[in-house]
Amino acid sequence: MRVRSFLMIVLGSYLLFQLLLGGFLYLDGISPAAIALFLVFAFSMPVYLNLAFVRKWPRPLWMMPLFFGYFFMSAVTSLALGLLWGGWWTTRHPHLVAHSGNPSRSVQLALLSVIWGIFLSVILKNHLRGPRVRERVLTVGHLASELEGLRILHVSDLHVGIFESDRSLARLRAAIESISCDILVFTGDMIDRKLPEIDRFLHFFGDLKGRLGVFCVLGNHEHWIDGPAIVSRLEQAGWPVLENASRRIPLGDHGITLVGLSDPSSEEPGGDGPDPEKAFLGVSLTDGDAVVVLAHHPVLWDLLSSYPATLTLSGHTHGGQIGLLRSGWTLASPFYDYDLGLFSRETASGKQWLLVNSGTGYFGVPVRIGVPSSLEVVVLSAGPSGS
Ligand SMILES: [Fe+2]
Repeated sequence: MRVRSFLMIVLGSYLLFQLLLGGFLYLDGISPAAIALFLVFAFSMPVYLNLAFVRKWPRPLWMMPLFFGYFFMSAVTSLALGLLWGGWWTTRHPHLVAHSGNPSRSVQLALLSVIWGIFLSVILKNHLRGPRVRERVLTVGHLASELEGLRILHVSDLHVGIFESDRSLARLRAAIESISCDILVFTGDMIDRKLPEIDRFLHFFGDLKGRLGVFCVLGNHEHWIDGPAIVSRLEQAGWPVLENASRRIPLGDHGITLVGLSDPSSEEPGGDGPDPEKAFLGVSLTDGDAVVVLAHHPVLWDLLSSYPATLTLSGHTHGGQIGLLRSGWTLASPFYDYDLGLFSRETASGKQWLLVNSGTGYFGVPVRIGVPSSLEVVVLSAGPSGS
């Protein structure tokens, strides 16, 4: 794969860590059969996930916490090995660590400080700098002149909750306000764990405006908390919530239609689940128009190849929060076919685009390494030749 050497280091550290853990469990009196079972599972899981990604085998999400564990445990093992090596090296070169009663400990502490300093500065940089703004011009065939240059600001996965301070939310609001846009959309996971967080979200973002409006769909977190209650709070605040629904904005003789698809998590008792037929009721793609779909989970794009969906905006994956963007590999890659960034395909009704936003917030751990928080701006264009 594209980052084979990196994965080999992580995988090697992981296997070593599991072997050490197995040895510890044996000394602790755990039966060899139970340890063998544990080791088979621990060794096969990352190998399976990477193979499954390539060969399209099932990649259940319950494996994700284990996968995060796999990554962090590997990092810890590498760190421990680094410290051991540092200790061994200083016993061989005591003259290089002068004036120290315990040279190996000094170097270990220095190594530890440097490694954690790098980690912390990368993590803090994302917290303090705020989201990266990325602007993309999308060429849409036969786009009407009224839609030329239309700017859509896409915000996703804020996760307003324990990991977001008032200061970071104010900074995010300022970043959103600093970007000129015609339409502002939020694709779910506005809040994280509790219903009152929607009031905090509205306190910071409720009065934001786009020239042609602000629209949203819910994410899995809103549905887990209380989907109907959150829809009603957002609608009271004047936000159209497009749950399997659409809204057309006329622009001269043409127009742009926004379609919202409910998240798969809304299939819980009492919910509809994603229903493209209902969402696209009365929606047609006449020449010159554009249809923009809001769908929290990018897997929903698979349902849309026979619908007039010019551009689908998604979030949910957070780009894994950790990854090597230049290589295209993120912690989300083994779990999602559309993990991050722009995808396209040709269909009978023309070219379709999918944009997966890495979001602005955090899930699980308040850490982003290599996958920064993002605000995405999409500019529609007919291309160099015009419509
Ligand atoms: Fe999310």
